[in-house]
Amino acid sequence: MSKTISIFDTTLRDGEQSAGVNLNAKEKLAIARQLVKLNVDVIEAGFPISSSSDFEAVKLISQEIKEVSIAALARANEKDIDRAWQALRFGQNPRIHTFIATSDIHMKYKLKLSPEKVLENAVMAVKHAVKYTSNVEFSAEDASRSDPDFLVKIFSEVIKAGATTINIPDTVGYATPEEFKKFVRYIINRVRDIGEVTVSVHCHNDLGLAVANSIAAVEAGATQIECTVNGLGERAGNAALEEIVMALKTRNDYYNTHTNIETRQIYRTSQLVSSLTGFSVQPNKAIVGKNAFAHESGIHQHGVLNEKTTYEIMSPESIGLPMNRIVLGKHSGRHAFRDRLEKLGYQLTQEEINKLFIKFKGIADKKRTIYDEDIEALMDIGGDNLNKYLTLERFQVSCGNASAPTSAVKLNFKGHSLQEVCIGNGPVDASFKAIEKALGISLTLEDYKIRSITEGKDALAEVIVHISRESKIFIGRAVAIDVIEASIRAYIEAINRMIAGLGDNFIPIQYNEEVI
Ligand code: KIV
Ligand code: ZN
Repeated sequence: MSKTISIFDTTLRDGEQSAGVNLNAKEKLAIARQLVKLNVDVIEAGFPISSSSDFEAVKLISQEIKEVSIAALARANEKDIDRAWQALRFGQNPRIHTFIATSDIHMKYKLKLSPEKVLENAVMAVKHAVKYTSNVEFSAEDASRSDPDFLVKIFSEVIKAGATTINIPDTVGYATPEEFKKFVRYIINRVRDIGEVTVSVHCHNDLGLAVANSIAAVEAGATQIECTVNGLGERAGNAALEEIVMALKTRNDYYNTHTNIETRQIYRTSQLVSSLTGFSVQPNKAIVGKNAFAHESGIHQHGVLNEKTTYEIMSPESIGLPMNRIVLGKHSGRHAFRDRLEKLGYQLTQEEINKLFIKFKGIADKKRTIYDEDIEALMDIGGDNLNKYLTLERFQVSCGNASAPTSAVKLNFKGHSLQEVCIGNGPVDASFKAIEKALGISLTLEDYKIRSITEGKDALAEVIVHISRESKIFIGRAVAIDVIEASIRAYIEAINRMIAGLGDNFIPIQYNEEVI
C-alpha cells in the first residue's frame, strides 16, 4: 500500500528567514489560508521569541486557522518554549518545535557547550514543552554533520522525554542523496522506540540537492518532509514543496508514496508567495516556472500536439495552471466580480469587495480584457493592512531622447503636503529622487523588478522594489497600467513599511504646503 508522507510547510518560518523577505501578519495569514487549501499537514508559522511581529503573526494564525496543525519554533530553553506556547495556545493540535545544534562544530564554536550539556538541554526542553502539548518536535540542528551515534543517543532520550516527531536537518545543505539515505537509515535502525514517532527531514539547498536528499530520506523510512513553497529559505533556500510533492506523485510507481497535498492549488500558492515576498520565480523553475509547461522547439510542439505525454510527464492542470483565463471586462458588474473572487478562493468582507471593485473598474476602463491574474494582482493583501503614513497625491513626468527626464511628485505625509521636482537617469529614477528629496532622506534601492501580469499592450505592470535603510530591507509592490505610477506606488509602499519598521519617530525634513 502506498505510504503517506506528511508535508510540514515552513515557508512562514524558514522561508521568511530569507534575506530580503519581510511579511507582515496579514500577509502571513493570507499565505497560511492558502496553505490550508493546499492541504499541508503542518504549518510552521514562525519563531515567536525572535520578534514581537513574529509572535503576533503566530498568534493570529493559530487563532484563525483550525484545519491544520500550527507549529512554532523555539530554542531548547524554557523562555523560548514559553513564548512559543503563548502564541500557539489558541490553535488546533499546536506543535512546539524545539531545536539545538548537535554537530561538533556548532557545539564547540556556536553554543560553546559540551555534548553532555547539549543532551541535557534537549531533554529538559522536550520535558518542558510536553507540559503544554503532547505534540512536540525535536530537531538536531546540523544533524548531517553530527556524530551519528550522538544523534542516536539524543533522539532516544528526547523520545523518552515525550517528543513525538524527531527531525534530521541537513542545515547547511552538505549532504548528498546516497549518503543521506544511509545516514537516516542508520538512525532509524538504532534509535530506541523510533516506531512510536514521526521521522522528519529538513534539507537546505546549498548544493542544489535539497529535494533529492529529502526524497532519499523517504526511501530510508522518513515520513515527514519539511519544505517551503518555491524553495524559499535561508541562503540557497529549503527543499521546494512543489518539487517534492510532484516528484512523489509523478513517480508513485517507483516510490510508492503519496502526500495529502491538493496539487491543483500548487500554482496559485506559488504565485501568492512570490507576489507577497517579492521573490519572483525563475522561468525555468521546475513545476511552477513560467516555462515549466512551455514547448518551444518545433519537434516538441509537434509531439505534444499529437500526444501530450511525449514531452509532458505531468499535466499543467494537475498543478492548477490556469487554462481558461479570460474572465471579465468593463461591462462586468459587481455581482460577476464578487462571483469571480469567490471562485478564485478569496473570502472577503463586503467592504473589501467594494474597495476592490473600485480598483477593478479603474483598470477595466483602460484595459479590454481582465484575466484572473489581473484580479489577483489587485489584491493588496498586506498593503491594505499597512499604515499609509505616506501617500501619492499626483505626479507629472516628462522625458524624451533630447531632454533630461524630470519628475514632479506631490505627496501627503500624515496630512502634510510635500512636493519636489528632480531630474534623473530616467523617469523612474527622477521620481524616486523626488520622493526622497521631498522627505529629506536618502535610501538605497537594492532591487527593482517590473513585469507585466498578462499579455498585450494594455497589460497591468507589477513593480516590486527593495529598499534598504539601517541595514534592513523593506519591500514595496504595486500594480498599475502605467509603469511609472506602479514604480512610484511601490516605492511609497516600501517607505511605509520602512516607517512602520523603524517606528513613528520618522520625521521628514520639509513640510511644503504649496500646490503643484
Ligand atoms: O535548518 C535547520 O536546521 C533548521 C532547524 C531549526 C530545524 O531550520
Ligand atoms: Zn532550516
